[in-house]
Amino acid sequence: MQFETLTIAIENRIGILTVNRPKALNALNSQVLEDLEKAVEAIEANKEIDVVILTGEGKAFVAGADITEMKDMNADEGRTFGAYGMHVFRKIELSSKPYIAAVNGFALGGGCELAMSCDIRVASEKAKFGQPEVGLGITPGFAGTQRLARLVGTGKAKELIFTADIISAVEAEKIGLVNAVVAPDDLMQTAKTMAEKIVANAQLSVRYAKSAINRGSETDIETAMVIEQDLFGLCFATEDQKEGMTAFVEKRAPKFVTR
Ligand code: HXC
Repeated sequence: MQFETLTIAIENRIGILTVNRPKALNALNSQVLEDLEKAVEAIEANKEIDVVILTGEGKAFVAGADITEMKDMNADEGRTFGAYGMHVFRKIELSSKPYIAAVNGFALGGGCELAMSCDIRVASEKAKFGQPEVGLGITPGFAGTQRLARLVGTGKAKELIFTADIISAVEAEKIGLVNAVVAPDDLMQTAKTMAEKIVANAQLSVRYAKSAINRGSETDIETAMVIEQDLFGLCFATEDQKEGMTAFVEKRAPKFVTR
């Protein structure tokens, strides 16, 4: 898989997807968004990949949508650009496979929105987060007003978005925007260790759990519980459920097979 602005590597069933446009701090122009969409589709279809780590090359994770490209857009073009980014990020969120954002540096605007479309965020102590759009005369446009509010609550989301404050990784962890903060040199290993733990489990169970959490968090609790019941029930039709429970009874490690 070759892309102009991204690389994909595969290690031990973990896909490592790196945004690679370091001269512009990995800013998301149309080319990066198109590459990202194709990469996410390719990863979804790739049977060698169970879990994905998304990171950025150089000192930034992603410093936002490309301001140079957006500068002269009219209202229609701005809306279309925002909608396309939303569509690509939603593919990540709805991917059957878990995505871990390994946030190595600036995650601003569209970069913070990209990290938030992943399932889990691990950050380097050097990472910085923020939604600085109102300082540019726009609002967040890749669903940042929605995902940030859902992750950290409307009060904190409004504070961050209205002030355009840039916050440290430690502050981001404090408000629930990131799962863990580690030394820069430990970032990829921390993400890989987490990914390896996920790979060792029953993959259909992981995927059903992702689907239940995503779909359930977007609806009322009664409907959400039915979603969980259905997916829980489906697990009993899998070889991995028989293997997982038999292995427990036989006091041995399970060998999961379903991908
Ligand atoms: C285009 C960008 C960019 C961006 C950085 N660059 N961010 N180009 N779009 N979002 C470019 C710079 O112009 C510069 O290019 C090069 O990357 C290095 O950046 P510097 O500014 O020289 O680096 P530094 O001094 O270390 O400052 C880092 C920074 C700053 C604090 C992250 O670059 C910055 O403030 N960037 C913009 C952050 C931002 O406002 N993001 C939100 C964008 S709006 P040259 O050619 O000069 O070397 C957004 C909307 C999303 O994301 C929704 C859209 C629908």
